[in-house]
Amino acid sequence: MTRLGTPLSPQATRVMLLGSGELGKEVLIALQRLGVETIAVDRYENAPGQQVAHHARTIVMSDPAQLRALIEQEKPDLVVPEIEAIATPVLEALEAAGTVKVIPTARAARLTMDREGIRRLAAETLGLPTSPYRFCDSLEELQAAIDEGIGYPCIVKPVMSSSGKGQSRIDGPQDVRRAWDYAMAGGRVSTGRVIVEGFIDFDYEITLLTVRARGEGGAVQTRFCEPIGHLQAHGDYVESWQPHPMHPAALARAQEIAGQVTADLGGLGIFGVELFVKGEQVWFSEVSPRPHDTGLVTLATQWQSEFELHARAILGLPVDTALKSPGASAVIYGGVDAVGIVFDGVDEALAVPGADLRLFGKPESFARRRMGVALAHADDVETARRHAREAASRVRPRATG
Ligand SMILES: Nc1ncnc2c1ncn2[C@@H]1O[C@H](COP(=O)(O)OP(=O)(O)OP(=O)(O)O)[C@@H](O)[C@H]1O
Ligand SMILES: [Mg+2]
Repeated sequence: MTRLGTPLSPQATRVMLLGSGELGKEVLIALQRLGVETIAVDRYENAPGQQVAHHARTIVMSDPAQLRALIEQEKPDLVVPEIEAIATPVLEALEAAGTVKVIPTARAARLTMDREGIRRLAAETLGLPTSPYRFCDSLEELQAAIDEGIGYPCIVKPVMSSSGKGQSRIDGPQDVRRAWDYAMAGGRVSTGRVIVEGFIDFDYEITLLTVRARGEGGAVQTRFCEPIGHLQAHGDYVESWQPHPMHPAALARAQEIAGQVTADLGGLGIFGVELFVKGEQVWFSEVSPRPHDTGLVTLATQWQSEFELHARAILGLPVDTALKSPGASAVIYGGVDAVGIVFDGVDEALAVPGADLRLFGKPESFARRRMGVALAHADDVETARRHAREAASRVRPRATG
């Protein structure tokens, strides 16, 4: 039995989000709707999620001392990581001491915080199919890895990075140094370590949202959302849609892989499992133990969005992953570097049939920063994609003054 309290009372059920961007904001809203008391943590003030939470805290989440002090002071019932760059050893220590429960588990947060932990788990421990890969700490090691088997084309990524930062493709020997330098400049933490992966010539890639939640009777069950197709540009998602049509054998294989990796990571909550598909062949790419950016589309397509699914699952409540309608999402970039921008054309965007919008409320815009997303539902995915793109293009972010 799950009992929820009254926020801002001694009986409150208190949940702390570590990372309060656009994804965290939607999780916080879903928690608010269930009367949960929310604490939104981010590295800067007025982050999107901090604007809708009961409490806003600003710390450096990768700093072990700051993170520990905040958790011990707030004593939330649940700590929910929403980003990767967190001092996960602190989470493991506090979880082991019984101070706090980490979603889905502190171990999952640690293993997925860099590319090495999760890739070794998936490929070497679980034996899941992945691209061929090697980890390298120098330009010489990178060249050797390519020459000794990875081959061309291949992709180089800093082990600590997301949204395509520092990531590039190598087509021949002339590209190796440039890719190495780019990875060194683009990593989140300058560990100097990269993964080089053989290029998978996939037909398409999907995110398979996988939820571990308690069903009737309390047993943990694994449920899958319909596959989400997406388009990436420079390693960052620009468009997603649901459902992505799949050969039944490929879908079964995708669910099998997602089931295996999420069962190993354990705990409760949603996981975004990224997979490459060619015919009936499926490769595991990576997994986020939290809502996935391509899953923003579920705000338009599912009865319970990925954020509501996450909120329910982590509270021990049952979930429903059913599709409501085909739909699509298209990212709205800032286009300008400026503080306090305005958005023109919101009325025109919302006049597109089936369209909806989320403007995240980020205080500062950058040309390539995701500032909002257009959503659309329609009778079929192609129409929805067209409408989402059209709605996104009608929103015009502008600097003032
Ligand atoms: N081995 C590969 N073969 C072919 N394409 C790849 C490979 N690795 C990555 N890609 C492409 O680059 C995209 C980004 O890669 P990946 O997901 O590993 O990086 P990321 O920085 O974590 O991105 P995000 O945080 O947006 O998910 C993939 O979605 C895929 O389109
Ligand atoms: Mg990815």
